[in-house]
Amino acid sequence: MRVPVPLINAFKDEFEVSLTDFLYQNKLIPEMDSLKSRRYLTRSVVPHVETLSMLFNRIIEDDTSPDRASSTRAKAAQLKAIDEEAYWSEGGNPQNRRLAYLLSFMPGNLFRVASVWAELHRLGFKWPFPVEQDFRGLEWGAGTASGACGIFAGEKYAPLGLPGNGSFALIEQSKAALAIGAKWFEHYTGYSARPFHRRVDLTKDWLPKNAPKFHLFVMSYFLNESDANADTLAQNLIQSCERHLEEEGLVIIVEPALKLQSRKLLEFRQTLLSNPRFHDNSLKVLLPCLGHQACGALVKEDDWCHEEVSWWRPNYMRELDTLTGLDRKSLAFSYLVIQKTKRSMEEILPLLAGPSSERYRLVSPSRALSKKTSEFFICGQDGKRRARFLSPSKAEMPDRGDILQNVSLHGEPASSQIEKGDMISVEGDHEK
Ligand SMILES: C[S@@+](CC[C@H](N)C(=O)[O-])C[C@H]1O[C@@H](n2cnc3c(N)ncnc32)[C@H](O)[C@@H]1O
Repeated sequence: MRVPVPLINAFKDEFEVSLTDFLYQNKLIPEMDSLKSRRYLTRSVVPHVETLSMLFNRIIEDDTSPDRASSTRAKAAQLKAIDEEAYWSEGGNPQNRRLAYLLSFMPGNLFRVASVWAELHRLGFKWPFPVEQDFRGLEWGAGTASGACGIFAGEKYAPLGLPGNGSFALIEQSKAALAIGAKWFEHYTGYSARPFHRRVDLTKDWLPKNAPKFHLFVMSYFLNESDANADTLAQNLIQSCERHLEEEGLVIIVEPALKLQSRKLLEFRQTLLSNPRFHDNSLKVLLPCLGHQACGALVKEDDWCHEEVSWWRPNYMRELDTLTGLDRKSLAFSYLVIQKTKRSMEEILPLLAGPSSERYRLVSPSRALSKKTSEFFICGQDGKRRARFLSPSKAEMPDRGDILQNVSLHGEPASSQIEKGDMISVEGDHEK
C-alpha cells in the first residue's frame, strides 16, 4: 500500500517526542531519556515485548507443525489468556506490561489504521458529513486507543475532511489499559475521549439500545480475539450498524496479517455479503476489494490476503527490534472498510475510473522480470490471477496494494498478460 511520505516520516522524531512526554508525565518511565537507555529497555520493556509478541503471533499459526494437537492446545491457552485480560495485567509488573504495549505495539497499529485512512484519501474519499457537525467515533477493544489515534494521524497527513470538533468513545474490557488509552488519545490528538469500561459480549447486541449513533467505528486487532463464529459476528456487526451507525458512516477493521487470522477476516467479509440484512441496510464493502465479488483468496485453502506498509520507525523501536529480534521496518495487516451508503463505488471513491470489471488490485509483491516488466497476483471481479505487466516507466512499476484500472488482459488466469492498465498515483491524481 502506498502511504504519503509525510505520514511515513511522522514517526521518526515528532512521534517519539510526544510519546516520551506522555510517558514521563504519567510516570510510566522514570526519566525523560529512559527510552534512550539500552539498559532500561532491556530490563523493563524487552521481556514484556517478547511475551506479548508470542501471544499475538499465536503458535497455532505454524500449522505445518507435525504436532497439530499440541498446537491447538497452545491456541486455546492463548485465547483464554486474552479472555482473562492477562496480557494487560500479568507478568509481575503490570505497569511495565502496559508500557511495553504502548511502546512496541500501539505505534504500529496506529500507523496501520492511518494507512487505511490514507488509502481512502488516495482514492478521493471525502468525509461525508458537514464539517460544522461534531463527529462521533467509536473504537471497539480500544486498549491504548491505537485505532482512534490512527484516524487522527491519517487525517493530519492524508485528510478526508474530518471536522475539527468531535470525540471518540473508547470501549475496553481492561480498566487499566482504558485509563492510559483515554489519556494517550487526548494527549496525542487534542480531541476528547469518552472511555467506557466494559466487556462487549460479541454474541449479543454490542451496544445498549439507547446508545447514540456514530459516524465512525474502528476495530484494530479486536475481532480476532473473539472465538464467536463468523455468522454471529456478522449478524451483530450488521445490527450495530443498523442501530448505531449514521447513514454514510464508516467502519474500519484492521486485523493481523497472519494466515489464520487473515482468513478469518476474509470469511467474515463473505458472511457479511451473504447476509441479506447487510444489503437491506445499504452496507457496502469499499476496501480493499472495491466491490462485492467472491473473495479470490478464499478459493484456495492455504491462501490469504494482506497489505504491507513501510514507515520510519521511532528510534527507540529500532533499538527494541534489535534487542528482541523483531523486525517492524514494514508492517503487515489485513483490513476491511465498510460504508453505510446508497451511493455507487465510483461516487464514493472518485479516483476509480472505467468499468469495475477492468479494475484489479495487486495482492502480492511485484517481482521484477526485467527493468520494466513485473509479475504479480491481481484480484478483481473475476477472482485472483497471476499477471505480467510492462510498465510505461520504471518509476511506475506497480506493487502490492496498487490498483490498475481500464485493464485489458489476455492469456490464461494462471498467467495473464496485462496489455494496458492505468495506475492511481501515490497521492491520488486529484492532488496533481
Ligand atoms: C490486541 S488489543 C488491540 C488494542 C488496540 N485496539 C490496538 O490496536 O492496539 C485488543 C484489545 O481488545 C480488548 N478486548 C478484547 N475483547 C474485548 C471485548 N469483548 N470487549 C471489550 N474489550 C475487548 C482487549 O482487552 C485489548 O485491549
